[in-house]
Order: sequence, then C-alpha cells, then structure tokens
Amino acid sequence: MKVAYVTWDGWDDEREVMLAAWLGADIEGAPVRWDDPHVDWSSFDAAVVRSTWDYVHRRDEFTAWARRAGAATRLLNPATVLTWNTDKTYLRDLGVPIVPTHWSSIDLPVWDEYVVKPAISAGARDTIRTGDRQQAEAFAVELESQGRTIMVQPYLETVEHEGELSLIYFGGQFSHAVRRNAMLAHDMRDGVAGNGKFTLRDPDEDQFELAERVLGQVAEELLYARVDVVRMPDGEPVLIELELTEPYLYLKAEFDAPDMFAKALADLLG
Ligand SMILES: Nc1ncnc2c1ncn2[C@@H]1O[C@H](COP(=O)(O)OP(=O)(O)O)[C@@H](O)[C@H]1O
Ligand SMILES: [Mg+2]
Repeated sequence: MKVAYVTWDGWDDEREVMLAAWLGADIEGAPVRWDDPHVDWSSFDAAVVRSTWDYVHRRDEFTAWARRAGAATRLLNPATVLTWNTDKTYLRDLGVPIVPTHWSSIDLPVWDEYVVKPAISAGARDTIRTGDRQQAEAFAVELESQGRTIMVQPYLETVEHEGELSLIYFGGQFSHAVRRNAMLAHDMRDGVAGNGKFTLRDPDEDQFELAERVLGQVAEELLYARVDVVRMPDGEPVLIELELTEPYLYLKAEFDAPDMFAKALADLLG
C-alpha cells in the first residue's frame, strides 16, 4: 500500500513517528504537500490529511483540493467531512452541549469576559479575549466586514485551572486523551499565549460520554477524530471544537498511539 501523508512545508513533529508506524503495518507513506500542483493523487491507494496547517487563510482552495483528491484516491478523512468540519458553524448542527455562542456582532450578551473568533480558524488565529464589551463588538464587526462568520463566547475561566481536554480516536476507537493549557492571554490580539504543554489524562466519565455522543452525530467513517471539551462554571462538559480535519494528535503522550493509527488505517484500506 502506498499512502500520501498530506502535509505542508512547515513544522510537523509527528510525521516521522507516524510514517515509521505505517511501515510497521506494511504501508509505505510519502509526505506530500496538499497544494503541490505536480502530485498525481491517483498514484496513491489513499491520502491521509495530517499537517495541512496553512489552509486556514485559503479554505476555499483547500476544500476544492479535497474534492479533487477525494475523486482521485481514498481521502481520509473524506472530502465531505473536511468541508463540513473546517467551518465551526458545524457546532450548531450537532445537537450536543457546546460553549455558549453568539453568532453575530449585534446585541452581544453581557458577560464578564469575551472570546471573539472567526468560524474558520485554527491555532487561535484572529481570536481575541477581552473584558471590554465594546472592544469585543468592534472586533466582531471588523471580522464581519471581511465577510467572515464570527463567534462570540464567554471566556471560560475553567480552562485556567482545569484546562481543555482533547479525546483522540482512531478508526472510531478511543486512543488517548490529553489535558491542554489555556491558550488565550488576557487582552491579547492575534497572539497565542499557551505554552503548548500537554499531559496524558484519563477522561472523566461525563467527558467520555460527551465525546461519544459527538462522534455518534457523524455519519461518515472517520480515520481520526479529536474531540475538544471544556467545562462550564457549573461543571457541565461542553464541546469547544470537533477536529476532523488536521488535528495535532499528541502522539508523544501515548506510546502506542502511532501503531493504533496505522492499524486503523490498514483496516480501512484492507
Ligand atoms: N470561550 C472560550 N473560553 C476560554 N478559552 C477559549 C474559548 N474559546 C477559545 N479558547 C481558547 O482558544 C483556543 C482556540 O480556540 P478554538 O475554539 O479551539 O479554535 P481553534 O483551535 O480552531 O483556533 C482554545 O484551545 C482555548 O484555549
Ligand atoms: Mg482548538
């Protein structure tokens, strides 16, 4: 089996360990840039989207690529999933508890602190945190004036002490979960404060139940999924993001994870 490991030109510290695990499952992986015009996608048995982290400001180009690649080979996750999942308006369709979200710059609720972010983003790009309602509104208006769908949320203090939990699944099976530190500094703009630290952690029962419920809403077969959950002030777990496109997988946290991924891939292709 020959499989494209779909990536970008930049940093990706999970590439080598993943490709090594694939080899162990008789899968020959080749790193390929998603936007390389010279690639013949039909020459691969499958293409696995991994570190395509430069798609955020070129989302239309990315979804068009996904449709093309998906027509030429087996794209994982499928193009329909990638198209749906790269716009956080999907959070409205899931029918599960999510972080309270106001989808417009008009009539912002009164909250102690605000997070304003575009529906199409990654890595907290173009995201602000502020205690100033007028500043939140002004930033929301600015993003909307660029034709972008925006999300305004209360800043959940719980991420400061309890963090965000990412539950990672391969082939529909739970692999591992990590606790991630808060990313947004106070009153920052276009910047990320998180130190990127993470630790392996067993999900609590209610977090696990939420993740299973979220994944139960997706009809397509998924090779990989990351369900990011946070807690409301009253303790209720809610979904902050469902990552079915290009999630970082925290493979360093769990020794067996790359092999489990490789096995899930081999099973899907078998
Ligand atoms: N409402 C919120 N309350 C607290 N922290 C938030 C909130 N929204 C986002 N964040 C922080 O910003 C990070 C990025 O936001 P997220 O919604 O996951 O978008 P993306 O990862 O696609 O940029 C989160 O991991 C979290 O640390
Ligand atoms: Mg996120």
